[in-house]
Amino acid sequence: MQTMDPRLLKHVIGAAIDMGYRAIDTAYIYGNEKAVGEAIQAKIDDGTVTREQLFIMGKLWSTFHRTDLVETACKNSLEALGITYFDLYMIHNPMSFKEGPDPIPKIASVVQFSEYDYLDAWFGMEGLVSKGLAKSIGVSNFNSVQLLRILEKGKIPPVINQGTPVEYKNSTFAVIDDPLVKVMASGLGVSPAQLLIRYQIDSGHNVVVKASCANHLWDNLQALTFELEKTQIDALNALNKNKRTFTFKGMGETHKNYPFLEPF
Ligand SMILES: NC(=O)c1ccc[n+]([C@@H]2O[C@H](COP(=O)([O-])OP(=O)(O)OC[C@H]3O[C@@H](n4cnc5c(N)ncnc54)[C@H](OP(=O)(O)O)[C@@H]3O)[C@@H](O)[C@H]2O)c1
Repeated sequence: MQTMDPRLLKHVIGAAIDMGYRAIDTAYIYGNEKAVGEAIQAKIDDGTVTREQLFIMGKLWSTFHRTDLVETACKNSLEALGITYFDLYMIHNPMSFKEGPDPIPKIASVVQFSEYDYLDAWFGMEGLVSKGLAKSIGVSNFNSVQLLRILEKGKIPPVINQGTPVEYKNSTFAVIDDPLVKVMASGLGVSPAQLLIRYQIDSGHNVVVKASCANHLWDNLQALTFELEKTQIDALNALNKNKRTFTFKGMGETHKNYPFLEPF
């Protein structure tokens, strides 16, 4: 649901739930929790789904990493969404920003960092599970060293490390436009998007796809109707460019916990 026009949301979420989608990925920083919540409620009210049939994810923003702020941040997001618990709540990224109302606090264009740390946030996250505010907790955009630190110091292991390996828009090497992808998809009678989603599924990854029109939603769902051979997965693996295009540019490259300096 990232950066989608709130006016489109109700239509898109309604169409997605009607088609059978059940996972909804939200975040405080996307600024649209209220609109997402209203769209979900409309589908509960019209009897299409129950709350229990949905898997709703949320993300703790970086200005709420101090342990005692986590519960309030989570409750505020739940209230905006009109729900009483998250199925999965994640730390959005490992960089802690100075606490306060501004989500990306800056002085003279310089992002202000917090003295607290993602581990402080994790301790708060663990409290959400015991209070029933989150059924499971995880992280997002963490590197392997940061994950290990949480595994060592925390009581509950994260169930997920979400992230975005490739920024689709404005990318100079959008894999969906790669000639091999186009040829392979055409040979299989599927769309490039279906091929790439299936590639991720058959590689053992959980895929969270964003689409803002019903055609794309339907197209992507059809990725569940076929499987790839190992040789096809190997051919797609060979397209690897060893590059990361989602880098939190301008948001904290100098932060001590900037995650993308480690190889993984
Ligand atoms: N944890 C994080 O920090 C983080 C960061 C980024 C994203 N995310 C999450 O990751 C998920 C994916 O988001 P993303 O922004 O990375 O998007 P994405 O799923 O990689 O790609 C979205 C783009 O692909 C297009 N698209 C979708 N289905 C298509 C199809 N069948 N054919 C052609 N184009 C298609 C969409 O177009 P239309 O919109 O026009 O349909 C949109 O431009 C979201 O749930 C988001 O919340 C998390």
